[in-house]
Amino acid sequence: MRYFIGNWKMFGVPKSINILNKINAFHIKDKNRKKYRVIVTPPYTLIESYSKYFKYKKISIGSQNCYQKEQFSSNTAAVSPYMLRSVGAKYTLIGHSDNRSEGDTDSMLKDKVKYALKNNLKVVFCIGENKSEKKNKRTLSVLKRQLTKVLEKKFNKNNIIVAYEPIWSIGTGKIPTAIELQKTTLHIKKVLKSIFKKNSPSVLYGGSVDGRNVEMFKEIKEIDGFLIGGASKSSKKFIDIIKNYYR
Ligand code: 13P
Repeated sequence: MRYFIGNWKMFGVPKSINILNKINAFHIKDKNRKKYRVIVTPPYTLIESYSKYFKYKKISIGSQNCYQKEQFSSNTAAVSPYMLRSVGAKYTLIGHSDNRSEGDTDSMLKDKVKYALKNNLKVVFCIGENKSEKKNKRTLSVLKRQLTKVLEKKFNKNNIIVAYEPIWSIGTGKIPTAIELQKTTLHIKKVLKSIFKKNSPSVLYGGSVDGRNVEMFKEIKEIDGFLIGGASKSSKKFIDIIKNYYR
């Protein structure tokens, strides 16, 4: 199974559902429809209405983050996994670099993963090195640390997806070379196998994915799908990624 996940970040109002309607209409008719899943993570404000609307349709709705407590607490503006599940979210991103840079620590991320799984949310756990770590050839060790500090064997690996998003690639148009990306993805899968003592969960790539560069990414069979930012805000750009992936 391949995944095409659109992360809207701070984008979208109720009428933006039109974008998802077009993607859903494409997916239903696509001859490759059984080979992939489409998930979109709109902002918190839209999760309930979009989840209701898409309940019996192809697209699944997820959250971009969740708070590291299970249910209710006195943390202003926080939204727990329980609250997200109660309005229909099926997935949540955890550990996006935007949130890590705002203070998410490994121990907070571990609690987020734990409570998200406990509340039946599937977790898309995001990892990635920054520019200076890449320059200093620390990519593989950074990724290993990010994975081993948070993920544990007791977590249900069937409900975890890992998204590799190099920070220097997000929103910049810069992407790793095919050789770099293959090596990195294999490394991530090896570390995941050592954590779970079984097959690795799916590993996605994210960072400036578009309809053109997906032609290169599709050659790397170890990559199980994509986490797409900018291009997920346009139905045409998002559909082009899927079309070109299967062409
Ligand atoms: P871009 O596709 O805009 O580079 O964003 C990637 C991302 O951060 C998705 O979570």
